[in-house]
Amino acid sequence: IERTFSMIKPDATARNLTGAITQMLEEAGLRVVASKRVWMSKRQAEAFYAVHKDRPFFQELTEFMSSGPTVVQVLEGENAIARNREIMGATNPAEAAEGTIRKKFAKSIGENSVHGSDAPETAAEEIAFWFAGCEIVG
Ligand code: GTP
Ligand code: MG
Repeated sequence: IERTFSMIKPDATARNLTGAITQMLEEAGLRVVASKRVWMSKRQAEAFYAVHKDRPFFQELTEFMSSGPTVVQVLEGENAIARNREIMGATNPAEAAEGTIRKKFAKSIGENSVHGSDAPETAAEEIAFWFAGCEIVG
C-alpha cells in the first residue's frame, strides 16, 4: 500500500471546495490518513517548490500558494501516487480529462486547485515537509 502527498490549493479553499475535492479523492479509492489546514508563508512556499525555482512562473506560483489557506493531506491506497495524478487531471485545466478534479474545478494553469506528488521520492519528501509521523494515522 502506497502513500502520496496532496494539497488543496488556495483557489479551491476560497470557493469552499475542500469537501467536494476530498470526496472525489475518496471515491477514487484513496484514504485520507492525515489532513490539516495551513496558510503557508512565502518562504514556506519557496522551500516547498524549490525544484521550480528557476522556472519563469516561480514568483507567481509562490505568491499564489501563500495567498490563502491550503489543506495538506496524506493519501493512502493501491498505487496512490499514480491514482491521485489520474484523478487530478492535467496541470492545465484546458487539457484535463473529463471527470478529473482540475477539469471540474481548476481556474487556470496557475490556480489549478490541487497538487499531488509525482514519484515515490517526492511523495516521501513532501509528506515529511508538512507532517510529523505521529500526525499520520493509517
Ligand atoms: P503539481 O501537482 O502542483 O506539482 O502540478 P503538476 O505536477 O501538474 O505541474 P508542475 O509540477 O509542472 O508545476 C507545478 C505547479 O506550478 C503547477 O501545479 C502550477 O500550479 C504551477 N505552474 C506550472 N506551469 C505554470 C505556468 O505556466 N504559470 C503559472 N502561473 N503556474 C504554473
Ligand atoms: Mg509537479
